[in-house]
Amino acid sequence: MTATAQIETARAWLRTARSIAVLTGAGISAESGVPTFRDPGGLWRNYRPEDLATPEAFQRDPLLVWQWYDWRRSLIANCRPNLGHYALRDIEQRAAAFTLVTQNVDGLHERAGSQRVLKIHGDIWWVTCLQCEKTTTDLRVPLPDLPPRCACGGMLRPGVVWFGEPLPQWAWQQAEEAVKTCEVLLVAGTSAVVYPAASLAPLALASGARVIEINSEETPLSGAATCSLRGPSGELLPLLID
Ligand code: OAD
Repeated sequence: MTATAQIETARAWLRTARSIAVLTGAGISAESGVPTFRDPGGLWRNYRPEDLATPEAFQRDPLLVWQWYDWRRSLIANCRPNLGHYALRDIEQRAAAFTLVTQNVDGLHERAGSQRVLKIHGDIWWVTCLQCEKTTTDLRVPLPDLPPRCACGGMLRPGVVWFGEPLPQWAWQQAEEAVKTCEVLLVAGTSAVVYPAASLAPLALASGARVIEINSEETPLSGAATCSLRGPSGELLPLLID
């Protein structure tokens, strides 16, 4: 099938589906200027996750970890949603049932107007107190004091999921439910190698859904997906809307 025919087919599936689920990864924000993790020039090419994105790293050197998150927060604050984020907002507005599951912590889906967003890896704008365990939103960039402190005096940590930590239970349950019950799952901009997020597309396929992948490169999911479209999500996603 030609690329044009593939896009037309995917568009028809989305038009007629009663329920749509979406899984996004860092690639969807790449055209906004947010660095991905595993591409050439990605964050994990220049930094080691075990130094910056594990509970052990934070325990060892909270200031270093906070400096890295503060840098990423400042970078993201200067980025805007792109046409891929806006296309997903439009798909949500037309669908009877819709759930967007994202591994991204940048908040760009909400800024584009998406409503039902499950943030299975947390949010870089959230801060959680290690003492009173309260999570709040802090949009200041840069943060005035690092590591930041809660009103109760406890140290705050970034409200994101680190390697080795469980995913937020409620969001994960909703995500599994959404992919099990959807007719179409759209997977955009993820390398499909980080679990448990990477298990959502196989779960959708096993439950009888069509899975449409959008990625600039081939991934471990590409062969199994019902339809795999190769290219930038900011260009391809708008083509999937009538
Ligand atoms: P990755 O950096 O692993 O993968 C980004 C994917 O996006 C790659 O497959 C690229 O080919 C693709 N890509 C890049 N630019 C694109 C574009 N313009 N359009 C479409 N696709 C594009 O990011 P994730 O899959 O999100 O977790 O990584 C998953 C998790 O690993 C992250 O949430 C993070 C990371 O370590 C934690 O920190 C817990």
